[in-house]
Amino acid sequence: MSGSRLISPFGGPLVDLMVTGDRALELRNASLSFPSWDLNVRQVSDLELLLCGGFSPLTGFMCRSDYESVCNEMRLADGSLWPIPITLDLPEAIAAGLRPGQPLALRDPEGFMLAVLSIEEIWQPDRMAEAKAVYGTSDVVHPGAALLQRSHPWYVGGRLEGLSLPPHHDFTDLRHTPAQLRDRFSLQGWERVIAFQTNTPLHRAHHEVLQRAAKQFDAALLINPVVGMTRPGHLAHYTRGRCYRAVLPRFPEAQTMLSMVPLAMRMGGPRETLWRAIVCRNYGCTHLLVGWGDGPGFDTGELVRQHEAELGVTMVPFPAEESVAESAAFPEVAAELARSNPPREEQGFAIFFTGLSGAGKSTVASVLMSLFLERGERPVTLLDGDLVRKFLSSELGFSKEHRDTNIRRIGFVASEITKNRGIALCAPIAPYDAVRKEVRELVAQRSGFILVHVSTPLEECEKRDRKGLYAKARAGIIKEFTGISDPYEEPDDAEIVVDTTDLSPLGAALQIMEYLVAEKYISRE
Ligand code: PPS
Repeated sequence: MSGSRLISPFGGPLVDLMVTGDRALELRNASLSFPSWDLNVRQVSDLELLLCGGFSPLTGFMCRSDYESVCNEMRLADGSLWPIPITLDLPEAIAAGLRPGQPLALRDPEGFMLAVLSIEEIWQPDRMAEAKAVYGTSDVVHPGAALLQRSHPWYVGGRLEGLSLPPHHDFTDLRHTPAQLRDRFSLQGWERVIAFQTNTPLHRAHHEVLQRAAKQFDAALLINPVVGMTRPGHLAHYTRGRCYRAVLPRFPEAQTMLSMVPLAMRMGGPRETLWRAIVCRNYGCTHLLVGWGDGPGFDTGELVRQHEAELGVTMVPFPAEESVAESAAFPEVAAELARSNPPREEQGFAIFFTGLSGAGKSTVASVLMSLFLERGERPVTLLDGDLVRKFLSSELGFSKEHRDTNIRRIGFVASEITKNRGIALCAPIAPYDAVRKEVRELVAQRSGFILVHVSTPLEECEKRDRKGLYAKARAGIIKEFTGISDPYEEPDDAEIVVDTTDLSPLGAALQIMEYLVAEKYISRE
């Protein structure tokens, strides 16, 4: 279906970079000898929008003249409006081996080939200047500028030929190419469509604003969640997807559609607003409304208004949050949010012991293990230092590097356990502060992390010398022994400190249980 009454794509016909049949076969066969690059998450999103025409009129990753013109003038080299650089960044080691005229296979992070780039240009951009141009600052406190600083230092531009769109296995009914969405709009007889782009769940206030806007502009509504890379800390798109689905029946069925857009946000303020307007036009929308919290600096201010006619998209300002009567969540949305953000009592957590050899870590951990098993509420796993070294880290020694690797492994396993709402008890020496903090950061993203410093002093540990290791360390038979010939960095961030000199293992375990009750990880029995 042509959709002749729909708004035309931006800057010409809808771009479709996918190749099929003989050409696809030819590229697949030839790709055996192509250099290749595994795209990161942001690059996959950009590639998807390039291949399907969401970024029409672009036909590939930008070359230098377009890139510089976009940075400086907000226009492509041919003068057409384009506010955000769409570039492919590569590390030095890869870029050094590439030449213009060569093909480059682009793969998803699993190595599946999605497209071939015909390299036209390879150059080293001034990313600080880019950050200043796009974000108005190169300061890393701006999340967009910070992202740019972490990108690779070389850019590679050229035309793309697509072999497969990035596969999505979730919410497949909510994923559409611009052509598919345009067909759906045509079938519905929609000409005026407001795209509501958002990366937060829809609450009562959004519902009210959207209904009002649809009436005011006599337009249908596309709820258009942004599900490429969003801001760090934003809800995973799985939760948001369920929330949007749950709230959809509250909108008039004949005038509302839900479709996810795989756009990787840049947080580029007014430039981003213009860019999103181009994308939504390519998908067949005539109006753009952007939710709160899509900043920083997301606006429909002067710069955006100046370009409205050229964009051909009407910007619908979102009213100030306070001016909307009802901002509470609908019960069905609140239920979805609660499900993916369970109370502490249903979350997993890690109890990470640290302390000298012989301090009592393993003994206290195994008492705790028994107490948790007796309660039977959550699955429990004990990652004891000795056991880990036997099975998970058997090739590692006791250099700083090896100890850090050991702790990272324990942290990884603990985060997998706690993500699935289990309890992980970890009991290594873990003498180095930085890697302990690394593990805390990893686990605490989704679960609880409790550091227990078993602070039994060296003299007491040495006096116990249960395994005879201190004697050997003193005699120089064991090298790099923690506390004797190797450092132990005392934690300053432990939630609990227990010294087992005069405290029984059960006493120490009960102290930890008290903490867990107080912090609502478990209930009092
Ligand atoms: S680390 O630093 O966290 O990676 O150590 P960890 O995996 O907990 O391993 C410590 C246990 O290994 C034994 N062992 C040594 N410890 C410290 N330094 C040296 N050089 C060393 N060599 C062997 C010792 O039995 C430790 O067990 P615990 O249970 O702590 O006494």
